[in-house]
Amino acid sequence: MNIDTCIKERRSIRKFSEEDVSAEVINEIIDLARYAPSWKNTQVVRYHVIKTPKIKEDIASNCVMDFDFNAKTIIRSNALVVVSVVKNISGYEKDGSYSTSQEDHWETFDAAIATQTFCLAAYSKGVGSVILGIFDEEKIRHYIEVPDNERIIAMIAIGYPLEDAKSAPARKSVDELVTYI
Ligand SMILES: Cc1cc2nc3c(=O)[nH]c(=O)nc-3n(C[C@H](O)[C@H](O)[C@H](O)COP(=O)(O)O)c2cc1C
Repeated sequence: MNIDTCIKERRSIRKFSEEDVSAEVINEIIDLARYAPSWKNTQVVRYHVIKTPKIKEDIASNCVMDFDFNAKTIIRSNALVVVSVVKNISGYEKDGSYSTSQEDHWETFDAAIATQTFCLAAYSKGVGSVILGIFDEEKIRHYIEVPDNERIIAMIAIGYPLEDAKSAPARKSVDELVTYI
């Protein structure tokens, strides 16, 4: 798939078919996502893939801050990917001090780049995805084991799209976004 097409035509998908997204396909997506850039190539992003329906249901019922819209998306998904980072590495010096005044900001940055790369890679393989930001990290930890040295940054619901994606929600023009100095 042409990169322009992939970037422009990827859409957030919230309705998924029953078709299974195999571990093989998910691994192929992560195989591409691992090429995302990261702070000093520290590669701190991790993917916890939840396929078990009961755990997805528990997270949908208890961990999305009563945002029913996300609960429905999670229930419909074939897999829920919890994206985390290994803490205190990206943006840090070896002695544990922050490298920049942005402090721990860079680990979130790395996770965001990796998450978008994951979603683009998924799209290129016909797998729909949507990033979910409304969740309660501590509650998720009741249902899945995420190591203490990891921080949960986002979730991605994935599955084969049930229907063709709608056209892109309106985007601002380049002129609105750019300033040349
Ligand atoms: C940081 C972040 C958090 C998001 N959280 C949610 C969410 O909780 N629920 C949801 O349905 N979509 C969520 N989205 C998806 C956005 O709504 C979507 O990307 C946006 O409307 C543009 O649509 P598009 O992805 O189809 O281009 C999130 C996207 C980002 C980048």
